[in-house]
Amino acid sequence: MKRYWMIMLSLLVLAGLVVAACAPPTPAPAPAEKPAEAKPLKIVVIGKSVHPYWSNVEKGVRAAAKDLGLSDDQVIFWVPQKEDVAAQIQTMETYIAQGVTGIAIAPSDPNALEATMKKAAEAGIFVTTLDTPPVEGSVSLVYIGTDNYSAGVIAGEAMKQLLPEGGKVGIGRGSDTALNALQRTDGFLKAIEGTNIIALEPVNDKEDAATALQLANSVISANPDLAGAFGVYAYNGPAWATAVKEAGKAGEIKIVCFDATTDIINFIKEGVIHATVAQREFDMGYKSVQIIKLMAEKGVEAALAEMGAKNGVIDTGVDVITAANLKDYEAQLDAKGIPHEWTTEGWEPPEDAFEFKME
Ligand code: BGC
Repeated sequence: MKRYWMIMLSLLVLAGLVVAACAPPTPAPAPAEKPAEAKPLKIVVIGKSVHPYWSNVEKGVRAAAKDLGLSDDQVIFWVPQKEDVAAQIQTMETYIAQGVTGIAIAPSDPNALEATMKKAAEAGIFVTTLDTPPVEGSVSLVYIGTDNYSAGVIAGEAMKQLLPEGGKVGIGRGSDTALNALQRTDGFLKAIEGTNIIALEPVNDKEDAATALQLANSVISANPDLAGAFGVYAYNGPAWATAVKEAGKAGEIKIVCFDATTDIINFIKEGVIHATVAQREFDMGYKSVQIIKLMAEKGVEAALAEMGAKNGVIDTGVDVITAANLKDYEAQLDAKGIPHEWTTEGWEPPEDAFEFKME
């Protein structure tokens, strides 16, 4: 009898094992507590230096936050004092550790920043770039900004029209690593190829306005025959303009630069700066916030398609401004509701104002 029960018991154990092996895996027990609420969105935009250009980007960032119903704590804007790759990396690290939703960065050195951008992407953070492009093959999901090479070509064309006989031209820029500075310079040099314009070696101020002015002064005194000056970054135009005025050569040395901050517009009105390639930095800030929010809500592909990205780029476009079309430019900004501190009220362009025509 004992043996009979032993056999029955073994059979039962065996049957149990077979049933257990065939049964579908037991689902994990339901968590005792309610799952955590989805984390609120947090978007960080990292720029390159303290400058009115970046204040315009910030205005775009804030306008997007407001329109999209995001609070001030959910949308962070940060810039270092001047070009500072280490500070950009450190700031990214801080926000990676916080597990934010997305980071939009203008990399002052795209090679140096890529590893940190990759770390962010691997942590599930949406990484995008604005104003200055990332390295080729970057983890950046989209670049929102100017096509810098073409914009540099436009600046070079303007210089060609201002200096039909040619002459020496100084180049001031705020970075030797940021791709926007390099591509603008390349485009400019390409446009003046085959002319009598001789470009001097670019001088680099690392986005420090005081250094930019010092360098402009020394280029002007070292080259008494300087015919033109190209300002690659937003404070380079005013640096050249101030230096040219101090040298008593206002109007004589032709200045072509980038951006349309208040100081630049005032120098155009004064006839010291002849042409500027205005970027649409307000849009860069606005769209960077908008696309990260869309990515979080609808996925990357849907967000890129909805925002009209082409090959990973949203080209924000440029406007060439001279004294001849400044009033039209102002009207254009007003129509779009883009704020500006300057006005053309009470000012009229001189009759012989330089008019730029793209050839
Ligand atoms: C550039 C920015 C730069 C800024 C400096 C702009 O032209 O696009 O990258 O930080 O000038 O003032």
